[in-house]
Formats: sequence, C-alpha cells, structure tokens
Amino acid sequence: MSAALFEAVPRLARTLSRVELGQWPSPLEARSVIGRTVFIKREDRSALHYAGNKIRPLEMVFGAAKRAGRQAVWATGAYGSNHALATLIHAPRVGLGTGALLWPQPPSDTARDNLLASLSSGEEIVFCRSIATFPARAWWLSTSRPRAWVMPPGAATPIGALGHAGAAIELCHQLRQHRVESPARIVLPVGSTCTTAGLIVGSFLARELGVGMTTLPDIHAVRVTPWPVTSPVRIAQLAVRTASLLRASGGPELNLTLRSALARLTVHGRYIGAGYGRPTRDGLAATRDFEPHGPWLDSTYSAKAAACLIDHLPQWRGPTIWWSTKSSIELPALDERRVSQAPQRVRRWLQS
Ligand SMILES: Cc1ncc(COP(=O)(O)O)c(C=O)c1O
Repeated sequence: MSAALFEAVPRLARTLSRVELGQWPSPLEARSVIGRTVFIKREDRSALHYAGNKIRPLEMVFGAAKRAGRQAVWATGAYGSNHALATLIHAPRVGLGTGALLWPQPPSDTARDNLLASLSSGEEIVFCRSIATFPARAWWLSTSRPRAWVMPPGAATPIGALGHAGAAIELCHQLRQHRVESPARIVLPVGSTCTTAGLIVGSFLARELGVGMTTLPDIHAVRVTPWPVTSPVRIAQLAVRTASLLRASGGPELNLTLRSALARLTVHGRYIGAGYGRPTRDGLAATRDFEPHGPWLDSTYSAKAAACLIDHLPQWRGPTIWWSTKSSIELPALDERRVSQAPQRVRRWLQS
C-alpha cells in the first residue's frame, strides 16, 4: 500500500503496520484508447520487482504478520497465480519466510511463465492435485505451521483490501494534477475481489476525508473468476468488513453499507469467456488496441477488463480510470535445476 492511507489517517499507525515494498505512487497516465481519453493507473509498474496490483495487500499483510510475531507468510492460489509469485519474491525482502499452496488451472503462456518463476524462487511449494483438495490442504497447512500466516487467495481479507483503499486516496491526489475532482468510473478485473472491495472503501474514505471523489465513482469489475467467488454481494461484504476494520483501527466511520456498496458496483460477467485462465477473442482484440503504447495485457486478467472498457467507452461520459493490474516488470531468472525438481505431474502441466 502506498503511504497515502497512513498520511491521510495518521492514527492508523498506532494499530496497523505496513512494510514498504512498492514504488509509490504508481504512475497515472492519460492515454487515447479507441480515440477516447482514458486515465490508466499503472499498477503494473508498482514496484521494482515483479508485483502488479498484488503488492498493495502484501504491504499490509506482511506488516500485520510481523506485528503478530509470525515468521512466514504463505500464499494460496492457482498454478499461475500472480499473488503467489509476488509473495515468494517479496516476503524474503523483508525477512519473512514464505511458501505457496497451489492448485492446477488451464495452461496458458502467462500461467506457465509464472509457475516457472515460482519454482525458480526455490521457496517451498505444495501442490494440490485439484482445486477440490485445496480446502483440506489449506487447513492442514494452517494447523501444521502455527508460526506462518496463511493468506486466502489474493489476500482477499479486510487487512489486504485496506492496501487497495490507499490506492484510491493516491489516485485522488494524482487526479487533482489533471484538474479532475471525481472520476466517473474505475474499470478493473476482479478475481479474488480484494482490489475491487478495497477501491470501494477507498472511494468512500476519500469522500469522507474531503480529498476527492465528491461524487463516488462507479466501480466496473470485470469477472475473471466465476460466480459465486465474484458475486456482487461477496465483494460488497468484503468492503463492509474492510470499512469496519478501518473504523476499529482508528479511521473514520464511513457511510458504507452493503446497500451503498452495491449501488456503486457493477460486475460484468460476459467477458470471462470459457472460464478462469481461458483467453477470449474480445480480450485478444483489446490487446491489439492497447499494443502500440502498452501496457502489455495478459489474457487471464487485464485483456478481459480491457475488452469491457473498449465495449463501453463510446457510450461512457466523464473521466474513466482503467486499472492496469498485470505486472510489466520482467520475471525473475529461470532456474532449470529447481524446476526439474517439481513433481512429475507439475512438469507435465508445464509442457502441456
Ligand atoms: C494481474 C491480475 N489482475 C487482477 C487480479 C484481480 O485482483 P483481485 O484478486 O484483487 O480481485 C489479479 C488477481 O490475481 C491479477 O493477478
């Protein structure tokens, strides 16, 4: 999380800790997309090391884990999880042990590259045979390693989402330089729901603190994981729980209820295509529209959010923010020896 949240609400520092992992603020760029101006929030350039949007919750969770005296932080997710990879890369930078519990997903180039990088990190990785065995393995992990903090997929918890609430405050400061008080909308992919819920809370907080967003933006979350994981009610519930944590930690009371959160949220279901990790034709077409100037879009997340943006831009009025989530920082170097030690079924998946 950027320092923006703690600067806006200094009292939080009494009860919450964060570690600095990113390069803040992440850039905000005004860009022409299909002939319309769009502000691109370059979360893809959030850190010097591979990270993307995943780094903001990690700053908060690592801070909380250290405060609680935990020695390691474990990530959970699919084989190609950006969240798991970012955890394996960044936890050792702040003196935390780490590991990942992963389940298989449809193969794609970006998922393969991520898993190769995760294996190359040399950190411990436990592989589930399928997503069905994940809950039991996660329970086993938590009970067998009491000194480790085990995150749910995407760190989708109130403490993680607070990291993204800070991004909304940061965005307001940047928009001022463009003479924009309130964006009309923010468009982003929704996977675990952490980023979307955090941005809802951050918008309400910015309005409450008077730093911007006098009119609350509409949050257009483009589903990349199936219902019910990304159901609007689930996202709104996380936003409400995050607002409660903010209040309990010394922040202001926000007028954020299930109803008021849902009123700001649209979940777009038609861009997911055949499912998580499966590229879509609309996504590939959107990638070509972005290609001349970047950022580069991945087929699992950002291409699907871009497809939604491009579909709606001609009808939308007012400033639009597009959240660029997939890290554009190069992946760490491949370590063939470590990759060769992966279980056979995982190596087979890498070759599929
Ligand atoms: C590149 C990228 N974009 C977007 C998302 C979705 O963010 P969230 O999980 O916070 O909903 C993810 C989640 O893994 C991601 O890796």
